[in-house]
Amino acid sequence: MNEPELLQRLRNADSNEAWVEALAAYFDSHGLVFGHGTDNAADEAFWLLRHLHEWRDELWDTPPDRSLLDPLVDLAVRRVRDRRPLAYLLGEAWFAGLRFKVDERVLVPRSPMAELIERRLAPWCELEPGDRVLDVGTGSGCLAIAVAVHCPGTLVDATDVSADALAVAAENVAQYRLHDRVRLFNCDLFPSEAARYRVIISNPPYVPVSEFESLPPEHAHEPELALRGDATGLGPTLRLLERASEYLLPDGAMIVEVGDGAEALTKTHPRLPFVWVEFGHGGHGVFVIAASDLRRREQGGSGSGEQ
Ligand SMILES: C[S@@+](CC[C@H](N)C(=O)[O-])C[C@H]1O[C@@H](n2cnc3c(N)ncnc32)[C@H](O)[C@@H]1O
Repeated sequence: MNEPELLQRLRNADSNEAWVEALAAYFDSHGLVFGHGTDNAADEAFWLLRHLHEWRDELWDTPPDRSLLDPLVDLAVRRVRDRRPLAYLLGEAWFAGLRFKVDERVLVPRSPMAELIERRLAPWCELEPGDRVLDVGTGSGCLAIAVAVHCPGTLVDATDVSADALAVAAENVAQYRLHDRVRLFNCDLFPSEAARYRVIISNPPYVPVSEFESLPPEHAHEPELALRGDATGLGPTLRLLERASEYLLPDGAMIVEVGDGAEALTKTHPRLPFVWVEFGHGGHGVFVIAASDLRRREQGGSGSGEQ
């Protein structure tokens, strides 16, 4: 479907549902790749229109607002022409039921960990007010802020090596007025300030170098630092595993996303008892590991044995 055909279909449509169908058909006809907040053309089309409605529910059942035709087509055409993720075109992403400001300085939030956070990390942890949480590689701040919002009273530290990413995270912290509970640190993995956390969460970069170049064009708009791991993709995760116990309370736990690296990690660390989280809304490759198991490994006990 070309642009004039899209325009024609939108002009002939008499409902917002029909607009979404037309947009979805346009997206599908151009072979877009989804996965930056949606996983299909219809959801992406719905998101685009709802954004232009400023998420006002009452506008859904009214006839389509013709004044939105130009911005709608403009955004749809740019999505197809530039293969830029819709989140960047709109400057917003939704994560754990919350809206975040995003731009090309940060990964588009999409971790399946949203589901865990929305249920306050149950059954893996019971976060209480006053508990401290560390988010390593915070990007937009989505995990850190979602924890602070969904687990009231928790104190969250969030780190990133990218000062650019932290500038976006700071905007999101301000948006949710969380200055008193979410602190941002520009550092490599762990903050220098001595602290012990109940939970460490992280979605580190984990795409192996060999796969990075062949990612769909949408990913080229995201920061390389957010996606590209080392040769195996597991480098940042291995560094986290090595040092996390220094920063965890004895009964704490670490939750890390490694995506397709799950199999390799299990193979190289056969005696570390990773628990792989099962998600109801899709996603995989997230493990939970207890601080006690990390500590046993250091002491050469039952958790050790991996290379
Ligand atoms: C996959 S993105 C995750 C962003 C965000 N947590 C999310 O889930 O959307 C990884 C983030 O880790 C940051 N990062 C990469 N290496 C790091 C390191 N050694 N220490 C701290 N942050 C790092 C990147 O800049 C990027 O923002």
